[in-house]
Amino acid sequence: MDIISGQPLFLLLCFILSCFLIFTTAKSRRSRHQVSASPPGPPRLPIIGNIHLVGKNPHRSFADLSKTYGPVMSLKLGCLNSVVIASRDAAREVLRTHDQILSGRYLNEALRSNNHHDFSVAWLHPSSPRWRMLRKVSVSQLFSPQRIEATKTLRMKKMQELVNFMSESSEREEAVDISRASFVTTLNIISNILFSVNLGSYDSKNSSVFQNLVTGVMDSIGNPDLANFFPFMRFLDLQGNCKKMTDCSEKLFQVFREFYNARIVENSSRTNEKDVSSRDFVDALVDLHQGDESELNINEIEHLLLDLFAAGTDTNASTVEWAMAELLRTPKTMTKAQDEINRVIGQNGAVQESDISELPYLQAVVKETFRLHPAAPLLLPRKAETDVEILGFLVPKNTQVLVNVWAIGRDPNEWENPNRFEPERFLGKEIDVKGKDYELTPFGAGRRICPGMPLAVKIVPLMLASLLYSFDWKLPNGAVSEDLDMDETFGLTLHKTNPLHAVPIKKRAIN
Ligand code: HEM
Repeated sequence: MDIISGQPLFLLLCFILSCFLIFTTAKSRRSRHQVSASPPGPPRLPIIGNIHLVGKNPHRSFADLSKTYGPVMSLKLGCLNSVVIASRDAAREVLRTHDQILSGRYLNEALRSNNHHDFSVAWLHPSSPRWRMLRKVSVSQLFSPQRIEATKTLRMKKMQELVNFMSESSEREEAVDISRASFVTTLNIISNILFSVNLGSYDSKNSSVFQNLVTGVMDSIGNPDLANFFPFMRFLDLQGNCKKMTDCSEKLFQVFREFYNARIVENSSRTNEKDVSSRDFVDALVDLHQGDESELNINEIEHLLLDLFAAGTDTNASTVEWAMAELLRTPKTMTKAQDEINRVIGQNGAVQESDISELPYLQAVVKETFRLHPAAPLLLPRKAETDVEILGFLVPKNTQVLVNVWAIGRDPNEWENPNRFEPERFLGKEIDVKGKDYELTPFGAGRRICPGMPLAVKIVPLMLASLLYSFDWKLPNGAVSEDLDMDETFGLTLHKTNPLHAVPIKKRAIN
């Protein structure tokens, strides 16, 4: 075929080839563009990258940096590639759209020191059968609606003990450490659900060793550790976090083993079946361990109990402390919440869990506290299992992903007067903390959402309502509300740096 006679065919071929070239060039340009679109971030120094920008309160420094670099920001922390999320839309992408790819955890050194990461529901990968089994056991035996209902009387009893303790302090006109008192109350609720015993004591002279061990575990996991940024420094344990984790967890495991073994002995000497209402979590664990299929081994049991104490106590307690601090700082809000409770409960009662649904203002106070003071301001660290695109930015495989719920809770694009404590903003609104509204996710969302949330959303409003119903509150030593500082200390949970002390003034006879 000569070229002239084959011209139309030749032209057609040229046309097809050009289209193909244009298409492939555009595609490769597009994909090159995608690859190059890594999230913006601050300039890095040699070796340390951006570590010098982290500071004592990473959630705050990250929030400030996100104002410049946007809601998907990359940071290099020593050897660790991190991405920080700081808007509702970006959080939705992480917690819902790409939940599967991003639901593994980034592990720190303290966790590895006692192999906690191999047994812990909070740190195992969700694809592991062990994680699914532990999650199923905790949900079915502790947090299902039926189990939550079954422990209602226990929560009421612990609230009464808290009110009695406050009442005694009120008679002595003594200021109370609110953080400590709410910690003891939560610890006793959880230790009774698990073992049917009180492990906390309001008496400061009797400060429980157990209490200090739980706090020790949380500190060692929560403290920023250089070895997380420079893994070759692992063996040095410069900050002592690994040692502290091993020491505290070993002592806690010993306590758990004693309870567990005592229960086995008690059950074996029992002639009749235990009444369903008096069964606790340890009974369920013994059945699961000793059953024909032995679903749980002793290591899994110890690490699960450790997780429940570590994740469940301080989070509730610090939320109640922040709520009280905000109310003491804005006395009008305190009065409004108290008036509502008085109206619903009357003069001589006690707050019941069923009353909480009748208290929209109190519920708004709790949501506002979660918005401004989320107990886990960066949630727990996640890790990209593969490359993933978030709001058009490429997050490479193995990157640590932190969702800054603290920054999202104060994002001026979402909230009017974001730094003011204004519970009214929630009145008449559907928005809730349960993982569907990505501007307010103090419990996380998606498959890793906090399994203890159904218990926490009972404890926090009940404790707060009980404190507000029975007492008026004032700051000690004639301090006024403007004097109250709201300084924060970052750890596994976000604490008030200076624990809140307040004087309860009894409003009515305590039954
Ligand atoms: C105010 C109270 C609480 C808050 C704010 C809170 C918050 C959180 C958050 C933010 C996470 C991580 C979610 C994520 O990675 O996306 C979490 C995980 C967890 N929480 Fe809670 N929590 C609270 C109470 C509790 C309680 C009472 C328990 C149990 C007694 C509990 C047990 C757990 C466990 C076991 C995990 C790990 C779940 C997993 O990784 O699969 N939490 N919590």
